[in-house]
Amino acid sequence: MSDGRDELAQRAAAIDRRRLSRLTPDAAARLRTVAARAGRAPVEDGDASARTAKPGRADYLAVKAGLQERLLDEIGERGLLDTEGVDVAAAVQEFAARALASEEVALNEAERVRLAEELTDETIGMGPLAPLLADPAVSDILVNAPDQIYVERFGRLERTDVRFRDADHIVRVIERIAARVGRRIDASSPMADLRLPDGSRVNATLPPATIDGPTISIRRFGRRRLRRDDLLGIGTLSPEMLEFLVIAVRARKNILISGGTGAGKSTLLGVLAEAIPDTERIVTIEDTAELSLDQDHVVRMETRPVNIEGRGRITARDLLINALRMRPDRIIVGEVRGAEALEMLQAMNTGHDGGIGTIHANSTRDGMARLETMVLLAGVDLPSRAVREQIVSAINLLVHVRRYDDGVRRIESIAEITGLEGLTPQMQELFLFKRRGRQGRRVMGHFTATGVIPRMVDELRDEGVQIPAALFKKTEDAEP
Ligand SMILES: Nc1ncnc2c1ncn2[C@@H]1O[C@H](COP(=O)(O)OP(=O)(O)OP(=O)(O)O)[C@@H](O)[C@H]1O
Ligand SMILES: [Mg+2]
Repeated sequence: MSDGRDELAQRAAAIDRRRLSRLTPDAAARLRTVAARAGRAPVEDGDASARTAKPGRADYLAVKAGLQERLLDEIGERGLLDTEGVDVAAAVQEFAARALASEEVALNEAERVRLAEELTDETIGMGPLAPLLADPAVSDILVNAPDQIYVERFGRLERTDVRFRDADHIVRVIERIAARVGRRIDASSPMADLRLPDGSRVNATLPPATIDGPTISIRRFGRRRLRRDDLLGIGTLSPEMLEFLVIAVRARKNILISGGTGAGKSTLLGVLAEAIPDTERIVTIEDTAELSLDQDHVVRMETRPVNIEGRGRITARDLLINALRMRPDRIIVGEVRGAEALEMLQAMNTGHDGGIGTIHANSTRDGMARLETMVLLAGVDLPSRAVREQIVSAINLLVHVRRYDDGVRRIESIAEITGLEGLTPQMQELFLFKRRGRQGRRVMGHFTATGVIPRMVDELRDEGVQIPAALFKKTEDAEP
């Protein structure tokens, strides 16, 4: 080991030790997991060689989280975090170059370059929020006022002691986030949906939209994405429901996920998309790109509002029309909210099956009604019946998610669309959450099939796909 490397390792070990001693046992344990995943064990006994342990599998995000924490410690110690400008930029760039050159991080060259850029970018732009962003346990960051900043960790909101100097300081951070994605925000357009380089979704507002001052709401992505097993563990759905949905995705059924704000639609979309085979070319269309798929073959598209000169707008509809020319195997529409509904349905009806999307709605039936309204927004003069025919022949499954009073997000209902009777779309419920009451704050109940065998079972059998009939058996409530 060269001298320089040795010195770096010792310094890092010292920082690790100091940091661990400052943390609560909980946080220290968390940090250890992150560090272990990054292929380095934080050192408690002063044994600097422990941190050269070879990483097992390249884990980009974990390596990044580890480096980012050390970076923040380092620039924090030098008192740079609150000053702005070239100093910090230079320090960060120097750190990134040094760490990546000397560390045995399990990344290839392209990943190293990307990592250095992201580290620099994320750390410099975010001012006092940087340490919160480096904490992998933080899922939301909410800035209400310079001295009022909340984070959500493991589903609980807590106030932090992080502070901005004043409202101006918040505005500058907002402007930097906006500039990075080529957007402007000012008093004449005081609200913006933005995105951080890691995919986190940001909403920023300025007065007069928010009366008391600028706000920032960050919903984090990338670090800790909920996956299938997480949802099973949390109790969002039953294993049978999951198995059925995975089969439906693989069988290229068109699925619409409905639910209210923050009900977990996008998260479920991401989980269902996990089931898409690696061999398929996926095109995603979102207002703010937040999906992060594991598959390699993904093209991500994002809408844009008008710019300051009133030009440059790209709608979801524009993107969808273009996506159809990109030889997609799957089109995923993050949230169907307007005229693109028409093209989406038409695409689904003309061989582009396997589509998945979300829609803001209060129930499966409400989802259908809203879809119809959106098609009408497209400005084509179709009779209601024709629109409904399009809908029922395009969409196969509706999945409704809901955030219950106890804060748990559950799939309330999965329904199959079976056709049109008169003017009424017909659907049959296949699974539901049967609510039994509450115990304290907790909502009691269980998931069950309704006993209805979906039509797609027969269809799929003809195509050689067997769906276990046991999935659709009604289950009685296990608890008394
Ligand atoms: N099943 C779940 N259990 C616990 N937390 C969840 C679950 N699904 C999502 N979340 C969390 O809830 C928040 C909102 O999730 P998500 O973005 O998926 O909701 P959404 O319905 O798409 O929201 P929006 O209406 O803003 O688009 C996120 O912080 C996410 O991590
Ligand atoms: Mg969403």
